Amino acid sequence: MKKLLFITTVLLALLPQVACGNGNDEPVTPQQPEQPESPSGSDANEDTPGTPTPGGNSRYLVVYASRSGNTERVAKEICTQLNGDLLEVEPETSYDDDYNAMLDRAQEELAAIRQGNYPPIKTSVEDFDKYDMIFVGYPIWYSSMATPMQTFLHNHASKLAGKTLALFATSGSSGISTSVNEARALCPEAEFTQTLLLTSSSLPQMESRVASWLEQLNVNIDNNPEDMNTNTLKLTVGSKTFTATLADNSSVEALKERLAQNPLTISMTDYGDMEKVGALGFSLPRNDTSITTGPGDLILYQGSSLVIYYDTNSWNFTRLGKVDGVTTRAQMLDLLGGTGEIEVTLSL
Ligand SMILES: Cc1cc2nc3c(=O)[nH]c(=O)nc-3n(C[C@H](O)[C@H](O)[C@H](O)COP(=O)(O)O)c2cc1C
Repeated sequence: MKKLLFITTVLLALLPQVACGNGNDEPVTPQQPEQPESPSGSDANEDTPGTPTPGGNSRYLVVYASRSGNTERVAKEICTQLNGDLLEVEPETSYDDDYNAMLDRAQEELAAIRQGNYPPIKTSVEDFDKYDMIFVGYPIWYSSMATPMQTFLHNHASKLAGKTLALFATSGSSGISTSVNEARALCPEAEFTQTLLLTSSSLPQMESRVASWLEQLNVNIDNNPEDMNTNTLKLTVGSKTFTATLADNSSVEALKERLAQNPLTISMTDYGDMEKVGALGFSLPRNDTSITTGPGDLILYQGSSLVIYYDTNSWNFTRLGKVDGVTTRAQMLDLLGGTGEIEVTLSL
């Protein structure tokens, strides 16, 4: 569990429910807003926001804004399927209950945003370090992203740099494209995946639409908690599989969270006649200290590269573990198939 502080509202709710639809952009025709779908039943606002709660141990954060509950239902469905952490973005001034008043206010706020004035929100997040992917959900207002979420992205743009954002939206019938362009402009350094839009006609299929979207995003639905308890890492190089004993630090915890989803294959090349190094493709928290390595040491370099040592080196970096039963360069090189480029697959 790591360093995310939800300064205002964090809900770690795992409520299954309705259904989602697929994120193909629909043509965007600016149009009059439609009456929002009412959330079915009386459960739309059954969670009580307001109590700051530390983030869970998921790799996925689902952050959403929702006035009348539709987007919230989708957000909760994503959370349920992914075992994600849930966070509601709330406007500082509560939404208007009166629909017409809300329409007027939305138009005013959208006009203000165009002038660079973002309506204040209650919600902020200290950092997103622990998350591989952040799901960002909002209603479509006048073909645009609802204003509280625009403010949230605006306020957190620098913290979201380099992060992968998966946008999802609900609407009466409007498309999502305009809001995707808004999100890209608000967070120019974030990566964006395929999106999900649920309109009032596709909302009833929410569950299956969310499931197929998550499948397309290649995010694994099973955050297998049992895998998280292991202290052993399996490394496969060619036909050889060997094990390493993992260190006890937040870098390893984050790596295990990643590997609990899917094995990870890394291309590694030799460096300095002492190590093989390869990019993880994502960043892990760093716990750098001055270390003198030996054969078999698994090291995290600069938060984003895996190094397997077959000889000694001294540097400031993070220990991830140690290959079992290896004490010499020859033993380690034998497991790695000698020098030269390799692919190593890590799994729990
Ligand atoms: C201020 C406002 C503007 C809206 N504008 C549109 C719109 O342009 N196109 C559309 O299809 N639906 C529009 N809607 C309908 C909502 O997008 C839709 O009901 C959505 O599912 C509401 O999500 P929520 O329940 O999470 O608030 C608007 C609703 C409101 C309140």
